[in-house]
Amino acid sequence: MQLLDGKLVSQSIKDSLKTKLIEAQSKGAKIPHLAAILVGNNGASETYVASKVKNCAEIGFKSTLIRLEESIDEEKLIDAIQQLNADNDIDGILVQLPLPKHINEEKIINVIHPGKDVDGFHPISVGKLVQGLPTFVSATPYGIMLMLEHYNIETKGKHAVVIGRSNIVGRPASILLSRNTNPGNCTVTLCHSHTKNLKELCLQADIIVAALGKPGFLTADMVKENAVVVDVGITRVPDAAKKSGFAIKGDVDFANVAPKCSYITPVPGGVGLMTIAALLMNTYNASLQK
Ligand code: GUN
Repeated sequence: MQLLDGKLVSQSIKDSLKTKLIEAQSKGAKIPHLAAILVGNNGASETYVASKVKNCAEIGFKSTLIRLEESIDEEKLIDAIQQLNADNDIDGILVQLPLPKHINEEKIINVIHPGKDVDGFHPISVGKLVQGLPTFVSATPYGIMLMLEHYNIETKGKHAVVIGRSNIVGRPASILLSRNTNPGNCTVTLCHSHTKNLKELCLQADIIVAALGKPGFLTADMVKENAVVVDVGITRVPDAAKKSGFAIKGDVDFANVAPKCSYITPVPGGVGLMTIAALLMNTYNASLQK
């Protein structure tokens, strides 16, 4: 069993972005600039956005964090996005999800200019993804593909089972894995809460992407020998032994599944770090389009 090391791979992506940036700047290129909008005080969202901002600084990108009150109305949030759309120095815009219940996420995502949609959530970005056209790809599935690529994992003709059909991870991951690319060319089964024979399907899988947000859901009896297991779960579970009061748990019962795998991602230290590296890649590419 080999660990798919998100720390190592994300660092190598960040190092190469840093080198590219220094070279581009010597030729007068602009500094990539990411704008993040955080609405309210959701603890997990605060952590993710802080990490995105910190990573931008680490590799020499500019970032702007816009914090808005939980009670903000839709129109004000739309105004904030439109200002960023019109600002020539801003290359990428992300609105951290989830948004408060009174705000329609779909409507908000539609306001982001597709040329600055570094999260790849806009319908134009998703449409291009489905058609195999160049576009911004949602950072978590993009990070998974970069991970598979880094470890040279053979995906062609393999059966990939993706558990979870969210717009952010499961669905785009299923599309990326099925595309005529390397990595890609998988036969994909997209499973969800209404899938009847999940265990049987998982047992047929060469690659499993667990992205349903249920800690420890994928157990050893659901995984065949030598499978590749990618764990997207990052649920906070109470843990009195931790200073923060919680531990981060993946969707995979790691201790029992790992011995059966050819490759597996740890949590933490796997896909989460790749998500940030992929977002930085998207932001860099957005800045090149200027
Ligand atoms: N919430 C969970 N994952 C993400 C992400 O990749 N981008 C944004 N904007 N919100 C998220």
